[in-house]
Order: sequence, then C-alpha cells, then structure tokens
Amino acid sequence: MAEQTGNITFGIVKPDAVRDGKAGAIIQKVLDNGFKLRAMKLIHLTQREAEGFYAVHKERPFFGELTNFMSSAPCIVMALEKENAVKAWRDLMGATDPAKADAGTLRKEFATSIGENAVHGSDSEENAQIELAYFFSHLEFV
Ligand code: CMP
Repeated sequence: MAEQTGNITFGIVKPDAVRDGKAGAIIQKVLDNGFKLRAMKLIHLTQREAEGFYAVHKERPFFGELTNFMSSAPCIVMALEKENAVKAWRDLMGATDPAKADAGTLRKEFATSIGENAVHGSDSEENAQIELAYFFSHLEFV
C-alpha cells in the first residue's frame, strides 16, 4: 500500500486556517503542487486528543497554548501522496515561523504567527506513519 512506500506524508490544515476560511485555498495549492489526497477529513480535536498528538512536545513551554489552539476549532487532516512526500510537503509549508517562511510557501501566505501557523506536516517518514495511524484507519485510504 502506498502508505508504506515512503511517498506519503501526513498534513493538517490547522484551526486558524479553517476558522478564517483559508482551507479551500490551501487544499487547492496542495493539488496544484502535485500532491494526491489519499485520505482527508474535517475533525474537531478534543484537548486530550491534541495532547496525544503533540505528546513529543509536552515538556515545551508552549504545550498548553499549542493544544488549546489545536482543539479550539475544527481542522482538516490529510494523507498526502507525492514522490519524497515528507520533504515536498515541508518545502511547500515553509518555515514554522511565518516571519521566516519563504515567498510562495503556505505559511508565508496563510499563517499569522509561530503558534497559529496554518499547517502541520510530519518531520520524517517514520513520524508520518505514526501520525497517519493516529488519525486514519486503513479503510479511510483510497
Ligand atoms: P507544528 O509543525 O504543528 O509542530 C509543533 C508546533 O508547535 C509548531 O507547528 C508550532 O505551531 C508550535 N510552536 C512551535 N514553537 C512555538 C512557540 N514558540 N510558541 C507557540 N507555538 C509554537
């Protein structure tokens, strides 16, 4: 299955972007940049679900702010397929801090701050598999 080939990654259109009506424009750019959507759904995370997803950051000073924000409104979770998907998606997202993001990246265009930065992407193939499995069952992949 493609979710085991290394050509798939996990992405989120975060609550700020969904709340502000930017999800459609972001997903259009996903498609324009050659990604195939293998799975996608709109969900509203509970605080506990956000804490589970970001458990690796639980000692960070911004953990409470991050998990409050991620559970503040619906978000869109996606399985994105492309060659070298992890790097390709991180390149399209741009730097975590939108002030440092390159022109043409999603965070440059759509993010407002380091906390409310419009999109998330897995940082490795291993984490992509873990994050995809956190949100999707095998039956949800097309
Ligand atoms: P993301 O790629 O989803 O992974 C962890 C998130 O923590 C990151 O995007 C940022 O949105 C958030 N984050 C990182 N640094 C900070 C910070 N200094 N203050 C608030 N949020 C942060």
